[in-house]
Amino acid sequence: MADYELLTLDRRDDGVAVITLANGKVNALSQELLAEIRVAVGELTADLPGAVVVTGGDRLLAAGADISQFGGPDEAAKIAEGFHSTLDALAALPRFVIAAVSGYALGGGCELALACDYRIASEKAVFGQPEILLGIIPGGGGTQRLPRTIGVSRAKEMCITGRQVRADEALRIGLADEVVAHDQLHERALALATQVAAGALAAQAIAKRVIDEGRSTSLADGLMLERAAFVEVFATEDSQIGVASFLEHGPGKASFTGH
Ligand code: COA
Repeated sequence: MADYELLTLDRRDDGVAVITLANGKVNALSQELLAEIRVAVGELTADLPGAVVVTGGDRLLAAGADISQFGGPDEAAKIAEGFHSTLDALAALPRFVIAAVSGYALGGGCELALACDYRIASEKAVFGQPEILLGIIPGGGGTQRLPRTIGVSRAKEMCITGRQVRADEALRIGLADEVVAHDQLHERALALATQVAAGALAAQAIAKRVIDEGRSTSLADGLMLERAAFVEVFATEDSQIGVASFLEHGPGKASFTGH
């Protein structure tokens, strides 16, 4: 395993991998932290876990890009490249990736959470794209993943006013998928990840891929993707196990191999 200074990567016996950001007071997503996340995602891609949890400290997931690294357009190009390559790699992991958001998820922190498949928020969580208050715009995918998650008009309002959204509103608008008591956050994220990690992983990966690919196609093209993927999934070992188990023992009893 690589040496990390700004995060920890914990590969648990139950198949869940936990990435915990640990970069100073506010987990600023500096170029160095983004590089470490890329290495961690590379490790996970090379040796896939069953599910992934991405989390931060007790008070925040991350306060966004490291503002002290900002400059002019040249620095901006490097920062956008750093964010996009990192968050695209995270989003492309063929496993269910859960963001556990304890508190502030601002700017790049919100964009990191949006690159995950599912967001579990503490009741203390606060999401926002406050870049506009610095006279800039989101550069880590916020202008694209946020409207695809909460709708165009709500995303515009958040990006154009910089207004921060608390957990209850985040749940209502679909920015958070669940809100739990603060002290239950990690327990709930790990319970869901553990359940998913014991599932039919090859089929999960196909479902994730088709849903993601379908978001940027027409309905007709998306349905064609699904048709091909539905055939593909029947070539997996788990589809044989799952169907046979259902016929013999009823629903939900299958022990999958992940293949
Ligand atoms: N990049 C670099 N440094 C940051 C930072 C960021 N995104 N966010 C906070 N910091 C620094 C602060 O400058 C401060 O540094 P100091 O201790 O040397 O003075 C330290 O982190 C703590 O921040 P502070 O604002 O005092 O803490 P807080 O608990 O009152 O508030 C936040 C925490 C996250 C709500 C607040 O810092 C914030 O709004 N940060 C900026 C978020 C943002 O605009 N992100 C988008 C970036 S494009």
